[in-house]
Amino acid sequence: MTEAKLEAWLEETRSFPPSAAFAKQANAQPSIYAEADADSVAWWRTQADRLVWHKEPTKTLEWDIPFAKWFSDGELNASVNCVDRHVDAGKGDKVAFHWVADAEGESRTITYADLQKLVAQASHALTELGVKKGDRVAVYMPMIPEAVVAMLAIVRLGAVHSVVFGGFSADALSSRILDSDCQFVVTADGAFRRGTAAPLKPAVDEALKSCPNVKAVLVVKRTGGDVEWTQGRDHWWHEIVAKQKTEHTPEYFPAEHTMFIMYTSGTTAKPKGIFHTTAGYLTQVATTHYYIFDVKAETDVCWTAADIGWITGHSYIVYGPLINGVTQIMYEGLPDSGGKDRWWKIIEQYKATILYTAPTTIRTLMKWGEEFPKSHDLSSLRLLGTVGEPINPEAWIWYRENIGAGKCPIVDTWWQTETGAIMATPLPGITATKPGAAMRAFPGISIDVVDNEGNSVGDGEGGYLVITKPWPSMTRGIYGDPERFKETYWSRFAGKYFAGDGAKRDDDGDIWLLGRVDDVMNISGHRLSTTEVEHALVGHPSVAEAAVVGASDDLTGQAIVAFVTLKLSADEQMKDQAPIIEELRVHVSKVISPIARPRQIILTPELPKTRSGKIMRRLLRDVAENRQLGDVTTLMDPTVVNMISGLMGSDDSE
Ligand code: WTA
Repeated sequence: MTEAKLEAWLEETRSFPPSAAFAKQANAQPSIYAEADADSVAWWRTQADRLVWHKEPTKTLEWDIPFAKWFSDGELNASVNCVDRHVDAGKGDKVAFHWVADAEGESRTITYADLQKLVAQASHALTELGVKKGDRVAVYMPMIPEAVVAMLAIVRLGAVHSVVFGGFSADALSSRILDSDCQFVVTADGAFRRGTAAPLKPAVDEALKSCPNVKAVLVVKRTGGDVEWTQGRDHWWHEIVAKQKTEHTPEYFPAEHTMFIMYTSGTTAKPKGIFHTTAGYLTQVATTHYYIFDVKAETDVCWTAADIGWITGHSYIVYGPLINGVTQIMYEGLPDSGGKDRWWKIIEQYKATILYTAPTTIRTLMKWGEEFPKSHDLSSLRLLGTVGEPINPEAWIWYRENIGAGKCPIVDTWWQTETGAIMATPLPGITATKPGAAMRAFPGISIDVVDNEGNSVGDGEGGYLVITKPWPSMTRGIYGDPERFKETYWSRFAGKYFAGDGAKRDDDGDIWLLGRVDDVMNISGHRLSTTEVEHALVGHPSVAEAAVVGASDDLTGQAIVAFVTLKLSADEQMKDQAPIIEELRVHVSKVISPIARPRQIILTPELPKTRSGKIMRRLLRDVAENRQLGDVTTLMDPTVVNMISGLMGSDDSE
């Protein structure tokens, strides 16, 4: 569709009716909403029957705002639910993962029976290293099967995993290890990216200099590069895991046993350790995966193109799909490892039926051109999903037409690390879809859009997204900080969960997500707080002050723009800026991650401040996006913003 055609179409129809072909065979039938609404708690109890219980729960929900317990007297084992149950049901030969390496031609096929053996061996190895129920284990891994095996083995023992995205720096890793006092780390020597080996173990060694409580490090050999070795602490996976027995008798844990921690950026410099417990989380990831992706365990080949270092990987590569017993593709590399058509080759080769990814990736693939998908047979695809940030209609339509052949329903799924599983989405075969809209709450979930006072807005109006009833996979809090949990999510609107996202209801009452309303940025679908980046910048010896904003970016959704005042006289600042700007960019990448590398750094002798000394980020956002400046009357020195606007032209953005 040309841009003009797209605009005309958006103007006229703006929606695709639910696919009739889907309606006939879909897992979800139209009555699902009414059934769930009639008694959402009871409805979730029936969904919990998707799990294999060691002891069936008799309780469903205990709700003491904002602390929920779901199915609390039940007992189960998460790893049994993902693996053993399928082998017990005679499906051991079914492929769990087609693992595809960064390098073309390298792959592994892992059946559910293989997975059971690997998890059993890893469980024994972790036990031998001293891991016990309740212990926290950091996982810092590339996208290799051992990452999934490690997660499943950790929860099998009743220990708690804290997966840290492999792109994070040593500093980011050590602060996460320290915050939840992890005593064990599972990692790899390195990772492959576009054929090049990138080391991981050195970051662990660096991080552990400040983590004296870490007793053991389990290292997968992936790249075969040289690694430093700390005797007594470091253990090779292939030495200690491979020798273990391939059967493991599980223990069972209470439904509310803590299962994992996932750090995510909040509005302060310190990431929050969002933790999830077992049965509620597993129930909702399995249920949402079943209905939203309409999975048929016998025939589907699901590909969630995300990293296990983020919640999407946890919920829709590891737990949801494995509980549902589907076959998946797990891919190690980048979208252009081996060529710009690599994804489409993989889909063609493995006959993927369901693809789930982020808008930022869709925009990148779109930029490369439609000749790449066109040169492959993508006809196996029957459903497409998107997650992580608002999707622009152009990318949505491109995805539908070029990848989904105009026939695959697109599910635009809104959720968060904190919600654990999808909360708002269309349902294939039932809900119409509109490019850019998450449409409606999932059955059994209560979502509202409210104004500043917390009152529901009418159709056609915008406001804040809130969740008005507890849901099974809701986070049980911020690790070690219940007060911050209450304050962050439950204090803005009494009795309601405040997600931090702006939203609107359109004239039909359908929900559109409009982006964050707080100081959280969304860079290529990754959450980063402005404060976190500011904190990193002022940690550099030359920086006096820094203010960071997220500015719109065609490719990455938002990009980081930093306004920095150096500890030098204004004159000196204006000399050759390029070296210090580059140094600051590298510094931020090192302290946080390359994801946090600012697109633009503007050196300025002053930052715009209110008379009370607060930096006016709102104005900097206007400057960064070349917008008409908002109200400047409260500024201490209104000329400062004009000066900064003038500097914008002279920067060297990437
Ligand atoms: C944003 C990712 C618009 C939102 C699963 C949310 C979205 C944050 C969508 C959570 C969507 C996620 N449309 N925005 N479909 N999905 N977001 O914790 O701002 O990494 O608050 O979880 O991503 O990011 P997180």
